[in-house]
Amino acid sequence: MAKYRIAWLPGDGIGKDVMDAARIVLDKIDLDAEYLPGDIGWEFWCKEGNPLPDRTIRLLKETDCALFGAITSKPKEEAEAELAPELRGKGYVYTSPIVRLRQEFNLRTNLRPCKAYPGNPLNYRDDIDIVVFRENTEDLYSGVEFHPLPKAVMDILVQNHPKMARFASVPLEEIAVTLRIVTRKGCENIVRDAFEYARKRGYRSVTVVEKPNVLRETSGLMIRVAREVAKDYPEIQLWEANIDAMCMWLLKNPQDYGVLVTTNMFGDIISDLAAQLVGGLGFASAANIGDNYAVFEPTHGSAPKYAGQYKVNPMAMLLAVRLMLEWLGEQEKADRLEQAIATVVREGRVRTYDMGGNSSTLDVAHEVARKYVELG
Ligand code: NAI
Ligand code: MG
Repeated sequence: MAKYRIAWLPGDGIGKDVMDAARIVLDKIDLDAEYLPGDIGWEFWCKEGNPLPDRTIRLLKETDCALFGAITSKPKEEAEAELAPELRGKGYVYTSPIVRLRQEFNLRTNLRPCKAYPGNPLNYRDDIDIVVFRENTEDLYSGVEFHPLPKAVMDILVQNHPKMARFASVPLEEIAVTLRIVTRKGCENIVRDAFEYARKRGYRSVTVVEKPNVLRETSGLMIRVAREVAKDYPEIQLWEANIDAMCMWLLKNPQDYGVLVTTNMFGDIISDLAAQLVGGLGFASAANIGDNYAVFEPTHGSAPKYAGQYKVNPMAMLLAVRLMLEWLGEQEKADRLEQAIATVVREGRVRTYDMGGNSSTLDVAHEVARKYVELG
C-alpha cells in the first residue's frame, strides 16, 4: 500500500486542466502516493442537488489530505434554475463545497503564501514575501444569516441592543442580517499558527489586521488575543493594522511585511490583494489546514471561458502541491519543487498567456517536472 492516500478533486472548468498539470509533476516527484478521484462541483449540484455528495465526504475520510482544483458556483436563482427538473422546488439549497469542506473537517487555518519569484513579469516588486493566515471557519462566513429576519430574532435584538432601535420598524422581509461570529479559541488558534510559522521560518514580524476601532467586540477580541499570544514569542514583533489602511500599506511598502494574520472575511480580501502583488490568480495557492486533515488548492475559480483549453497558468496549482508536500512532511521534495518553479519563472522560456507567453498549461508542468529532476 502507498504511504499516502490523497483525494483527487479536480472539480469544474480549469480545475481539471490544472490538476492534469499537477499530476505530471507529481509523477516525476515520485511521491509514494495513491490518488483517489472524488466527485465535487457544479455537475453534481445539477444532477444530484449536492455539489459535495456524501460519497465524496466518505472518500475524504479515508485519505490523508486532498488536492482540489476549482469549482463553479452561481447565485441562488441561477443555481435553482440549473437544477435537474425533477429536483426543482424540493428545497435544495446550494452551499459552496469548499466552505462546507472547511467547516466539516474543521480546516480552521487558511495559509496563503504570496512570494515573488524573481523574474516574473507580473511581480509588483521582486522582494515580496508575505504569508497570510486567515481564520477559515468563523466570522461573516459562519453561515448564520437571516432573510427575512424572523420576528423572534428582531425582538431579541431590539431588546438587547440600543443601536437596533433604528431598524425596529423596518419590515422583516426588507432586512437581511449576517452574523459576524468570532470565538476566543478561533482567534487563538489562527494567531498561534501564524506565530509558530513566523518562528519556524525566521520572520521577524506578525501583523494582525483587523478594525477594532469600529468592530469593537469581534475585531477587539482578535486583537486582545493576539497581544496575549505574542507574549510567547518575544523574538517576533506584533504589529497591528486596520484592514483599510493595510490595503494601502500593502501597495506602498509590501516588502516590509512578513506574516499577516486576520479573520475570515478580511483574510479573503487581503490575501487576494497580496496575491496580486506576486503574479495574481496564476500564482495564488492556499492550504486549508485542520488538526487531522488538509485541503490544498489554487485559489482561482473554474474560469469557464478557458475550461479544457489548457491555457491557464498551473503555477498556483503547483504551488499548492508544494504546500501539500510540506504538510505531509516531505520537506526536501517541497523545497526542490519550489526551486524548480522559481527556476522556470526566472528563465522565462515557458510561460502561459498571463505572463506574456504562449505555452500551454501542460508545457509549463513538463518544464517544472524537468527542472525538478535536474535539481535532484
Ligand atoms: P476565476 O478565478 O475562475 O477566473 C477569473 C479570471 O482570472 C479568468 O477568466 C482568467 O482570466 C483569470 N485566471 C484565473 N485563473 C487563472 C490561471 N490559473 N491562470 C491564468 N489566468 C487565470 O474567477 P471568476 O471568473 O470570478 O469565477 C468563475 C467561477 O469560479 C465562478 O463560478 C466562481 O464562483 C468560481 N470560483 C471558484 C473558486 C474556487 O473553486 N475556490 C474561487 C473563485 C471563484
Ligand atoms: Mg477569495
